[in-house]
Amino acid sequence: MSKSFYITTPIYYVNDVPHIGHAYTTIAADVIARFKRLQGNRVFFLTGTDEHGQKIERTAEANGETPIELADRVVKRFQNLSNALNITNDDFIRTTEERHKISVEEIFRRVEKAGDIYLSEYEGWYDVRNEAFITETQLEEILALPEDKRPIIEKVKEESYFFRLSKYQEPLLEHYKNHPEFVKPRYRLNEVVSFVESGLRDLSISRTTFTWGIPVPGNPEHVIYVWFDALTNYITGVGFPNHQEMFNQNWPADVHLVGKDILRFHAVYWPAFLMSAGIELPKTVFAHGWWTVEGEKMSKSVGNVVDPYQVVEEFGADVFRFFLLREIPFGQDGDFSKSAIVARVNGELANGLGNLVSRTLGMIEKYFDAKIPKPGSLELEDSDVRDKALAMIDVFEKEMDEIAFHKALVTLWDYISDVNKYVDESAPWTLAKENNEDRLGTVLWTIAQAIGVVTLLVYPFMPESAEKIWSRLGFSEPISSKTLDNAKDWGFVKSGQSVEKGQSLFPRFDDK
Ligand code: MSP
Repeated sequence: MSKSFYITTPIYYVNDVPHIGHAYTTIAADVIARFKRLQGNRVFFLTGTDEHGQKIERTAEANGETPIELADRVVKRFQNLSNALNITNDDFIRTTEERHKISVEEIFRRVEKAGDIYLSEYEGWYDVRNEAFITETQLEEILALPEDKRPIIEKVKEESYFFRLSKYQEPLLEHYKNHPEFVKPRYRLNEVVSFVESGLRDLSISRTTFTWGIPVPGNPEHVIYVWFDALTNYITGVGFPNHQEMFNQNWPADVHLVGKDILRFHAVYWPAFLMSAGIELPKTVFAHGWWTVEGEKMSKSVGNVVDPYQVVEEFGADVFRFFLLREIPFGQDGDFSKSAIVARVNGELANGLGNLVSRTLGMIEKYFDAKIPKPGSLELEDSDVRDKALAMIDVFEKEMDEIAFHKALVTLWDYISDVNKYVDESAPWTLAKENNEDRLGTVLWTIAQAIGVVTLLVYPFMPESAEKIWSRLGFSEPISSKTLDNAKDWGFVKSGQSVEKGQSLFPRFDDK
């Protein structure tokens, strides 16, 4: 059986409830997963929660609960996000599960067996919020920041197991050179390469001053460093070490989607651990940018943290999904604001797509008793709508494969504008007045085909709206039973299918 396309999100810390940063990565992963299925691939899509470590232990303590009570409570907010956002993940992993403990113990043992772990003492700084050991260079960078911008760091001195990261400096550089697609976007690869070139020190991978974690095999005084534990989720989720068949079916991952802040863990530490354990490396780590909110950094102290559930309540999941991926090129930072969402809804959704669908289906209802008409012979302008669709699908597919959502959506919406123009120019209402039924049928049939294509391509981004359009176009089978090849088959919206104009898909917002 051919390998599945395997995509992951980071696993989210349960010390706090989800915000748009979490929703963003999960939505992006879902769009890719749905698109890959549409291309005819088998897909495995994993998300989950990161539940160990000092940060969780401290948050629980401050709340007067145990870490597992905290995790059990907060994890629901993350799991329910799948429903609220229409996410099609195949599994949800929690690092406190037994299957994960087995997996982490196993990879730890393999790395140990490779001679890459030794016992020593860590003396230096630790950033609990980011669960990161601070190197000397990083310390200098931190001290150079204005005081109110510095992350909180603490001095640590404790016995610790170390991973021989230094040994992997050259192999990593070699890997980046031979696989430039390992880190995307390209400019991020350059950052990773210069970080590694500047020299890698061995990495502390166990802690002894708290207990909330997976004990080191053979020395339970130590718990395994939370990032060593967390990164391993990506192999646990596909059956490591005991479900060989499932593992082979899915691993290596095709894409780990991550935020830019955690790229180093994924593009330096993780491949080094895997090399040491003799496990194949993931194909690509894609780092996306960060959202500010109304121009400001999102933070609890500012009180501007955006709750994804609230956005869904106000705008619906589809609009939220569309906005996040249309607003900025994936990889770059962007700004989140209600006025920006409203502008997208009114422009692209209400005027562009919504208008095309509603006026077309309205005319088919009115002139053809709500049945897709039969086409007569195609004129040049009709076949042009078809040819443009076929060319557009190719470009769209390439851009999606590059994870350039924003470009793919521009490509699709340029086509929607072209089709709207075709409607205006062929003026079906005039053809109706002239009783030119043959020409009228051809034009409306052509627009119906174009809408069919657009609907399939919109589906990964806005599944609910696409399903709605799909059934209004008169299909009885679900859209997910179709592939992109269907979209290339002009005429797949069959004459005689019953259409329904229905209610407005994207009501305009009053921008006040
Ligand atoms: N638990 C680790 C990841 C372990 S993966 C093996 C973690 N969790 S997190 O909950 O803090 O963050 C998860 C993701 O949210 C990161 O990819 C981070 O980049 C992303 N974001 C946090 N704030 C964000 C924005 N303001 N905007 C966009 N993404 C943001 O890190």
